[in-house]
Amino acid sequence: MASVNRSVVAHNTPAVPAISVNDLHKRYGTVEVLKGIDFRAHDGEVVSILGASGSGKSTFLRCLNLLELPSAGRLQIFGEKVNLRPSGSNLRIGDRNQVDRLRTQVAMVFQNFCLWSHMTVLENLMEAPVHVQRRSRGQVRDEAEAMLKRVGLIDRAKAYPAQLSGGQQQRAAIARALVMKPRVLLFDEPTSALDPELVGEVLKVMRDLAAEGRTMLIVTHEMAFARDVSSRIVFLEQGRINAEGLPQELFRGGVSERFDQFIARFNQG
Ligand SMILES: Nc1ncnc2c1ncn2[C@@H]1O[C@H](COP(=O)(O)OP(=O)(O)OP(=O)(O)O)[C@@H](O)[C@H]1O
Ligand SMILES: [Mg+2]
Repeated sequence: MASVNRSVVAHNTPAVPAISVNDLHKRYGTVEVLKGIDFRAHDGEVVSILGASGSGKSTFLRCLNLLELPSAGRLQIFGEKVNLRPSGSNLRIGDRNQVDRLRTQVAMVFQNFCLWSHMTVLENLMEAPVHVQRRSRGQVRDEAEAMLKRVGLIDRAKAYPAQLSGGQQQRAAIARALVMKPRVLLFDEPTSALDPELVGEVLKVMRDLAAEGRTMLIVTHEMAFARDVSSRIVFLEQGRINAEGLPQELFRGGVSERFDQFIARFNQG
């Protein structure tokens, strides 16, 4: 599967975005890292977030599932306004239960997998659905095994993370996110920690998820993947969205000088 036809998804775009952000700011002390981001992602969209190191990509993603709290701005997830209250010059959580609930709907896959080292792969997948979502063990086990089949890891279900390659660990981490039945998947450089020969197997799993119509926001330095798989590219520069659009438009060049420079630097290696 080389490219994804998203015209069907676009045609059915619902009125309520999966994620909606207005004038999002994030400060660490006196340093403003995000400087007013306006962003929407609809159901079924695959948005790649590109930008130089330090431009705020991870911070932005972490604000979306409230691993970081924005300093200012508004955030809605499937139309539900996240309850954030002013606290000095920052915001604080207004409703802890809401945040716990929304976090399971917006799952994150990290660069360094973040699997529990003392649990087998299967136990890693079952932990949150059983203990956080309080779903039945038997049902979760069936679903976890089905997910491991999907990512090609069922024969490693009883292995510990240290016994797996990086690519296998990352596929396990993706399966673990999927077992939570999230409505949005966030990926923060999911292949950056992998040896080059293992990148492809993880990108394949992600391409398959995209082809299924999953809503995905992906921070990546894999430019070919971003160009071929995304329905939209967002280019961050110094905490602001510098350019945004269809991959074919942005990659053709001429939309944003800064984006063109970014890509040129990239191509030079
Ligand atoms: N917890 C923190 N405390 C202070 N500053 C931070 C913190 N987290 C991030 N920053 C700063 O915010 C800026 C944006 O960081 P962020 O990690 O979001 O960038 P990034 O675009 O993901 O970069 P990279 O491509 O290197 O991962 C950087 O200058 C970074 O040093
Ligand atoms: Mg980052």
